[in-house]
Amino acid sequence: MSVIPDITLNNGQQIPMLGFGVFLIEPEDTVAAVSAALEAGYRHIDTAEMYGNEKEVGEAIARSGLDRSEVFVTSKLSNDAHRPDDARRAFDESLKALGFDYLDLFLIHWPLPTRYDGDYVSTWSTLEEFYRDGRTRSIGVSNFQPRHLRRLHGECEIIPAVYQIEVNPYLTREEVRGFCAEHQIAVEAWSPLGRGQVLNDPTIGSIARRAAKTPAQVVLRWHLQRGDIVFPKSVTPDRIKENIDIFDFGLSADEVEAISALNRNERTGPDPDTFDAI
Ligand SMILES: NC(=O)c1ccc[n+]([C@@H]2O[C@H](COP(=O)([O-])OP(=O)(O)OC[C@H]3O[C@@H](n4cnc5c(N)ncnc54)[C@H](OP(=O)(O)O)[C@@H]3O)[C@@H](O)[C@H]2O)c1
Repeated sequence: MSVIPDITLNNGQQIPMLGFGVFLIEPEDTVAAVSAALEAGYRHIDTAEMYGNEKEVGEAIARSGLDRSEVFVTSKLSNDAHRPDDARRAFDESLKALGFDYLDLFLIHWPLPTRYDGDYVSTWSTLEEFYRDGRTRSIGVSNFQPRHLRRLHGECEIIPAVYQIEVNPYLTREEVRGFCAEHQIAVEAWSPLGRGQVLNDPTIGSIARRAAKTPAQVVLRWHLQRGDIVFPKSVTPDRIKENIDIFDFGLSADEVEAISALNRNERTGPDPDTFDAI
């Protein structure tokens, strides 16, 4: 039985708190990386149409011998497909590439507030169709700002189950956590290791020495103890194993607090208010 805890989303669906991310994994390396992750015990994969490796993610899951129902799979809508008909086509293509008849979670990847006349609401209504017809078990948003979330909350029928945003010890995002907690929206922390940039921090290093764990393990544990879902990416087999070996230790409340206090509001990725790449 897996030691990875599940959390229950606001629609009752269960999601493993630790998964495996595949952003920037080349298609030709993806089957090996996802296979190593499944072998190590990961049962949650985070991909996206824009990562260009959905087909290989599906292939690794098919080859693993695991039942489709044993692996939680997320994909995301491409930025060039926000108009309802384009979103319907893109969703069909994601399912086809993965070789699935349903997704566990489908997200709007970026809000793109400066494109499509600022209309991410009709895009969300289209995702509601996929949820209602059962082809995705949950829907959510990525990179939305709190005011974008509030607008959906005011204008749409289904509240997002998941809010996927950049979070790491240098970008703790306390301001959005209250809204999510109030509306039972689960937070997913993308780039949980800050793409490696937080791993040389002296505070994290000293906590890692105390715990006899690595800085990456301490950072992942910090996320989980704050209640966030994470999916670190690695193409390195030893790191893939290291990143899941985080369930035999804990951080004290003071240690969690000391890591949260490292916040600098420093992004490694683009600003969702201005990001408009298609
Ligand atoms: N929604 C969005 O817009 C969005 C944006 C970015 C990311 N994401 C999701 O979040 C996932 C993770 O984010 P990310 O890939 O950007 O960054 P990340 O997981 O924070 O960091 C990945 C980097 O850290 C290295 N690494 C992994 N484990 C390590 C360890 N134990 N010790 C030292 N270094 C380690 C990896 O190197 P090697 O691979 O060389 O081992 C890679 O360079 C993505 O794969 C994707 O699924 C979503």
